[in-house]
Amino acid sequence: MALVDDLNEPISEREITRRRALLTLGGGALGVASLGGIVTLLRFMSPNVLFEPATRFKVGRVEDIPIGSVLVIPKRKIFVARNDQGCFAMSSVCTHLGCMVQHQTASKAKEEFFCPCHGSRFDFEGNVVGGPAPRPLDQVSLEIDGGELVVDIKETVPHGTVTEV
Ligand code: FES
Repeated sequence: MALVDDLNEPISEREITRRRALLTLGGGALGVASLGGIVTLLRFMSPNVLFEPATRFKVGRVEDIPIGSVLVIPKRKIFVARNDQGCFAMSSVCTHLGCMVQHQTASKAKEEFFCPCHGSRFDFEGNVVGGPAPRPLDQVSLEIDGGELVVDIKETVPHGTVTEV
């Protein structure tokens, strides 16, 4: 019987098959590793930036919001309301634990906003009228620029701030 490393022995068919299999496996592993390296290099070269929408944006014209009504903008998590003194913008994030507050229909005029998570209720101005919420809905900056209402959700303003129209 010949030793495995006996180079004088002719290579059997079985040995060639094993070598080819190992060569194929090695080549495949090298290809996968190379591909992973290329993907990692490409990801490293692309900027690691998170693109977010602008925090300051137009929500419509003053005349779009009649006195006593609320404009709901769920995508930006805000309510824009108008009373007889002017317009104001509120965050729709509940001040209890951060759920999305929902605007109710005008039939429940005393409670305009309701949080489905733990039942906090807010009036038209965002004041707490029930439930566990510790403070009114946060107000954000609202300006009027050429008749357009412009909200800046990054800038909070004191509760009760109204922009005259
Ligand atoms: S999160 Fe709104 S009441 Fe709890």
